[in-house]
Amino acid sequence: AVKRTALIAGNWKMNLDHLQSIAFVQKLAWSLGDAKHDFTTVDVAVFPPFTDLRSVQTLISADKLLLTFGAQDLSEHDSGAYTGEISGAFLSQLECRYVIIGHSERRTLHGETDEVVAAKVAAALRHGLTPVICVGETADDLETHGPSAVPVAQLRAALETVTSAADIVVAYEPVWAIGSGQAATPQQAEQVAAALRAVLTETLGDDVAAKTRILYGGSVKSGNIAGFMREPNIDGALVGGASLDVAEFSSIARFEK
Ligand code: G3P
Repeated sequence: AVKRTALIAGNWKMNLDHLQSIAFVQKLAWSLGDAKHDFTTVDVAVFPPFTDLRSVQTLISADKLLLTFGAQDLSEHDSGAYTGEISGAFLSQLECRYVIIGHSERRTLHGETDEVVAAKVAAALRHGLTPVICVGETADDLETHGPSAVPVAQLRAALETVTSAADIVVAYEPVWAIGSGQAATPQQAEQVAAALRAVLTETLGDDVAAKTRILYGGSVKSGNIAGFMREPNIDGALVGGASLDVAEFSSIARFEK
């Protein structure tokens, strides 16, 4: 079986301005280094707001920090008359490695449809960025359709234009678990992650399915990360609230198997 490097990703959402981001990344790097963090077995990535990206890039490349970073969104277009939008070209010039796409907050608050998500995934791949494709069901979906139906349909739609060679990450975030303090159980998350991996196999083939990382997100903290990481189809976490606390986030990155 292919060994997948774990990914612990911190989605800052609309928190930490560019000055705060500098202090935060410095402290985080120190905290991970201090803990003899083994960067060969886990990738740690932060997802700051757009206005922080240049500062974070400068810090990470100047100090050769073993952290990676990404953006929280991008435009489906490459350039032109799209006021307020940020293109994938800009992000890859800033050495972003990842970009979050289709987070539930964008789907709900900004009306992002499955079609928009698919177009953004294509845009990310055009610019050499690894999309972190977010899927997840609401409490209502769960009641009406059961655990996997909505996330599976969202992933199928998001992969519409993806070819088999693509490097992608999938994040399963049940909407009811985001920011609620009530995480899914590792068993619930594993059940959906297995269904998502089956979609990867079906659409992109065995090799891609075996190497693609599937993350769990929704009220992850240092006290529950280990349970998720023990599950065979869960390869990491997309962390919101707990990623804003250096000690807590670095302890999540040092999860025990
Ligand atoms: O993208 C991560 C996020 O939606 C989960 O948020 O605060 O429940 O960890 P939180």
